[in-house]
Amino acid sequence: MHKTLPLFFLCSHMMTNMLLSLVSALFILCSFFSHGHAQPGKCPPARRCPLISPPPPPNPFPRIRPRPPLYPPSLNLMPRRPPNNPGPLSNRARILFITQELKRNITYDPQNYTRTWVGNNYCLFKGFYCDTVPDLNITGLAGIVFNGARFGGRFLNFYRFIRNLPDIAIFHANSNNFTGVINRNINQLRYLYELDLSNNKFPGGFPSSVIGATNLTFVDLRFNTYAGAVPAPLFNIDTDVLFINNNGFNQTIPTTLGNTPALFLTLANNKFTGTIPRSIGRAWNTLLEALFLNNRLTGCLPFEIGYLTKATVLDVGGNILTGPIPQSFGCLAKLELLNLAHNEFYGTIPESLCRLPNAYNFSLSYNYFSQVGPACRRLIRARRLDVRRNCIIGLPQQKSAAECSRFFSRPRSCPRESTFNVVPCRLRTASSAFEEEEEDEDGLIIPTIDEMTPPSPKTYSALVNPHH
Ligand SMILES: *[C@@H]1O[C@H](CO)[C@@H](O)[C@H](O)[C@H]1NC(C)=O
Ligand SMILES: *[C@@H]1O[C@H](CO)[C@@H](O)[C@H](O)[C@H]1NC(C)=O
Ligand SMILES: *[C@@H]1O[C@H](CO)[C@@H](O)[C@H](O)[C@H]1NC(C)=O
Ligand SMILES: *[C@@H]1O[C@H](CO)[C@@H](O)[C@H](O)[C@H]1NC(C)=O
Ligand SMILES: *[C@@H]1O[C@H](CO)[C@@H](O)[C@H](O)[C@H]1NC(C)=O
Ligand SMILES: *[C@@H]1O[C@H](CO)[C@@H](O)[C@H](O)[C@H]1NC(C)=O
Ligand SMILES: *[C@@H]1O[C@H](CO)[C@@H](O)[C@H](O)[C@H]1NC(C)=O
Repeated sequence: MHKTLPLFFLCSHMMTNMLLSLVSALFILCSFFSHGHAQPGKCPPARRCPLISPPPPPNPFPRIRPRPPLYPPSLNLMPRRPPNNPGPLSNRARILFITQELKRNITYDPQNYTRTWVGNNYCLFKGFYCDTVPDLNITGLAGIVFNGARFGGRFLNFYRFIRNLPDIAIFHANSNNFTGVINRNINQLRYLYELDLSNNKFPGGFPSSVIGATNLTFVDLRFNTYAGAVPAPLFNIDTDVLFINNNGFNQTIPTTLGNTPALFLTLANNKFTGTIPRSIGRAWNTLLEALFLNNRLTGCLPFEIGYLTKATVLDVGGNILTGPIPQSFGCLAKLELLNLAHNEFYGTIPESLCRLPNAYNFSLSYNYFSQVGPACRRLIRARRLDVRRNCIIGLPQQKSAAECSRFFSRPRSCPRESTFNVVPCRLRTASSAFEEEEEDEDGLIIPTIDEMTPPSPKTYSALVNPHH
């Protein structure tokens, strides 16, 4: 039978049974958002009150949220008809023609899809899903699911195929040998909102036609062989999910990064260089998970990351980032997973970071941190903070003194030095219940990692090759 889609959550779970009509699918997706406004609080009258008055969060890129439905909800549409009795079919000749052309080009079809591509009713073809087309009110081709079909052939021209599917809403074709050049007409597919082309063979630069498809809410281009630059307008697409991990992107991350309204963003396992753009703070109202791990990013962390008060996952591990952790990280109130491991960070680990209420697994290992306070020590004992292989005197499993002094023998600094003390929120103080300095080291017991409910991040599974 059909495979479970690796593209999970959010929108795609709707595809797995394909029982929801295109109609309701669009609505569910559109109603995903709620509008919250994190208020930048006042600095508490605490000892470590920052000297700089906290700037307000930057304006998010203007969006219409929740998205309006693509057509009036009151529209009374024909109910979906069974595949074996679909009634008149929209664009029948065109779809049959291009399907037969693709079929001729497919020379390897281990799951026997193309064998079913016979006759005049495309609703019965394996991998094809029909539904009522809203503006035509007849049955049309709403979904293609070729995930894991492993089609092979000398030239499987994806763009030529998809642009001849005028009513398509969902196109999932991961793990095939699709290739071919970009066709601009993709942005004329008026209902296309989910595009999964991961793990194909798309070569060369970024497929800029995708950027014209402004109704896309789900863009999955991971595990291809794209190289070069990511075009700046990519982050202006009004998408909820943006996966471009495991390609060969080797330029800087465009400064438009923070324009993205994506909830889930993966740039991991590329060769991105340069810094994490400070514009990232503009995404404070939407961004939930961001993976930057295993690139070639340099420079210091922008304090603006501290505006991401909805973020649960931030992973910048395995880069060449440096500098201290900005004090603003104490504002990441929802943060559960933080990975800064395998970089060149140094300095004191902010106590406010270690007091974050949802800290589950914070990995700062393999850096050059040199100081930790009581709250961080509690987190270490609870095995929720990993500081192995740093330069913290008195803790086990640290780097050698020689390695540390070699690192510190070079002067180190970050641009915008004063911003490292900016705290754009009201911090949790050392608690009303106790004062840090007076507290018995072992007096306060916090739950260990084993006693906590593990978070369930969505993005890490995107780092697994969808091929199955
Ligand atoms: C769509 O077709 C159904 C059944 O033919 C009809 O009842 C309905 O009014 C039509 N809707 C529109 C918007 O034309
Ligand atoms: C496809 O068809 C071939 C030949 O009939 C059969 O051996 C094979 O098991 C089929 N594969 C699948 C996945 O159904
Ligand atoms: C896909 O293409 C690669 C080379 O581009 C080839 O080695 C592989 O066999 C192809 N896969 C199939 C299923 O044809
Ligand atoms: C099929 O192959 C031909 C010849 O290589 C190519 O021109 C055409 O674009 C391909 N079409 C599809 C749908 O793969
Ligand atoms: C996006 O959807 C709207 C509403 O259906 C439509 O008017 C517009 O043409 C679509 N845009 C693209 C690029 O398909
Ligand atoms: C980036 O990748 C492209 C394509 O592989 C290559 O031509 C270019 O030299 C690379 N640039 C850098 C800076 O590595
Ligand atoms: C904590 O996070 C690090 C880095 O992401 C990971 O390697 C490690 O396996 C995680 N530990 C647990 C217990 O989840």
